[in-house]
Amino acid sequence: MNLLMFGPPGAGKGTQSALLVDNFDLAHISTGDLFRYNLKNETPLGAEAKKYIDAGNLVPDSVTIKMVEDVFGRLGEKGFILDGFPRTVAQAEALDELSLSTKKSVDKVIFFEVPRELLLERLTGRRVCKACGAVFHAAAKPTKAEGVCDECGGEVIQRTDDKAEAIENRLKVYEESTAPVKSFYREKGNLVEVDGTGSAEDVFSRVRSVIN
Ligand code: AP5
Repeated sequence: MNLLMFGPPGAGKGTQSALLVDNFDLAHISTGDLFRYNLKNETPLGAEAKKYIDAGNLVPDSVTIKMVEDVFGRLGEKGFILDGFPRTVAQAEALDELSLSTKKSVDKVIFFEVPRELLLERLTGRRVCKACGAVFHAAAKPTKAEGVCDECGGEVIQRTDDKAEAIENRLKVYEESTAPVKSFYREKGNLVEVDGTGSAEDVFSRVRSVIN
């Protein structure tokens, strides 16, 4: 089973991917996480991506596609969850080519439908662990101790691109560059729309029924 998690920033793609990985034997490929890993480790790729990510812009297609090709090259027989890729029609076309050459095609594209107000609430409230990347929410999923990760005791912070200005830009970039990818998959016939409102568990039970 190969799945693609699709939707606007804050729709819950990462949250649902984590629940899927807990319940099924799938590899989680998140381009956002891969970029953040490179930023944290101060690699050349991280340095290149930083200026785009901090402002809420997309990292150029050439850089992103190359990064995903490298990951596909290392994938074994396991099924995968793609989270945050593709985000442009050019990336979706590149993924088609990659699927052909690696014989690993996407079975379902799960699109999370979430109203803008709720996206803003989720993004402004999101907190992440600097050490292990665990995701929390100031209101919906607070840490037990203020600023301390429940999983590893690391420092919990706000992502630089979760500041108001960057959020506005990410939502604008989504409408302009990423929303057209939805029509791309609708025409292919493997797009499934899921109501992304309600608790993470509510959404996950909808995702489960799609997979089943
Ligand atoms: P990325 O990390 O992929 O950011 P994103 O797509 O903007 O997605 P988010 O991580 O913001 O949201 P999500 O949908 O995963 O929501 P989450 O589950 O965390 O990318 C970051 C940047 O990297 C991009 O801006 C770009 O610069 C670059 N990049 C990445 N991929 C790229 C690509 N392909 N091409 C070019 N550039 C690329 O949930 C959000 C919050 O809500 C959390 O606090 C969570 O706890 C909470 N929450 C989630 N679900 C629920 C629920 N059901 N109820 C209550 N709270 C919930």
